[in-house]
Amino acid sequence: MKDNKQSDFATRAVHAGQSPEPLSGAITTPIYQTSTYVQQAPGVHKGYEYARTGNPTRQALEDNLAALENGSAAFAFGSGMAATSTVMGLLAQGDHVIVTQNVYGGTFRYFQQVMTNYGLSFSFVDTSETDNIAAALRPETRMVFLETPTNPLLQLTDLRHTADLCRSHDLLLAVDNTFMSPYFQRPLDLGADIVVHSSSKYINGHADIIGGIIIVKSDKLAERFAFLQNAVGAVPSPFDCWLTLRSIKTLPLRMQQQNSNAIALSDYLLNHPKVNKVIYPGLASHPHHELACKQQLDPYGKPGFGGMISFELKSEKTGSKMLEQLQLFSLAESLGGVESLISQPASMTHASVPKEERERIGLSDNLIRISAGIEHIDDLIADLAQALK
Ligand SMILES: Cc1ncc(COP(=O)(O)O)c(C=O)c1O
Repeated sequence: MKDNKQSDFATRAVHAGQSPEPLSGAITTPIYQTSTYVQQAPGVHKGYEYARTGNPTRQALEDNLAALENGSAAFAFGSGMAATSTVMGLLAQGDHVIVTQNVYGGTFRYFQQVMTNYGLSFSFVDTSETDNIAAALRPETRMVFLETPTNPLLQLTDLRHTADLCRSHDLLLAVDNTFMSPYFQRPLDLGADIVVHSSSKYINGHADIIGGIIIVKSDKLAERFAFLQNAVGAVPSPFDCWLTLRSIKTLPLRMQQQNSNAIALSDYLLNHPKVNKVIYPGLASHPHHELACKQQLDPYGKPGFGGMISFELKSEKTGSKMLEQLQLFSLAESLGGVESLISQPASMTHASVPKEERERIGLSDNLIRISAGIEHIDDLIADLAQALK
């Protein structure tokens, strides 16, 4: 089954891009661990010449993800950052990009400390207000790069409104969809041109690979990214593609469980006397809850809020003590895996964002971030309860 957009999301997750292997009928796509392919005559081959350019295991993964994001083509990379840097390959010296101010720290670092050396300029704005994007437009603006919800403050940007704005100014709209995965948010359907993922997170979901993906709808962008993927060469190994392909088969089940665990954890934290504030788009108190209910939908139209929660403790001391006391939650960077993780963004994932910038966007040293896994909710709550004591 190559893509078959008619079938259900869960069915596509299991089957899209995959068909029985012709030699033996193996139901699982093999790991084509090869660097090159034998040609029958010069220039006569079976569609593969060299493994940087193409690999059947990678192709199966790319076809699968294109089908899940409702795109026409996908391109796999060795990391989420490799995917983001390849998106920047669409731009040229002098171009300007408007970026969500609270993007992943590594994206901020790459744009500010690498891409500016190549003559690109960036405006980091609060994209949750579309007017702020309009106000940051310049004659040389070429792209808007969004993350929604953001990491770790979980602010949302209205994708449909931003896509309309981008279309009227002839700008490309790229969206980092890592936090929601295609199960809960499909930006191409809302008018985005490019979707980027760190597949190290929910898409793979088992904390055992680093990977990235770009998905597009237009043939023109697909052609350009096929060129850039090969020209830049930041491609993943066939084994990592195979692991990711296998993991995606359970993406709907994992996302449902992580979402329901996060809803229960956010309710628990909200009522805890040592907690000052809980940030979770599923809570009615979240400033963008209404937008979340409209924009973050599972394939059956039901709102989903994902597995990420941030919260602030009343005292900074409680934070570090609690992190040391936890038994089940692992203190670690990253997110989206089956194991529940906890972190302190200011000293971990966002340490590369200067303190003044962190303060400007409201990312306090007191903030704790949870990535809810798929464990039993009673055990997760019991662990938080004993650590907060
Ligand atoms: C939202 C988001 N985008 C991109 C990345 C970068 O992905 P990778 O670590 O796979 O390079 C991350 C990593 O944490 C992320 O959280």
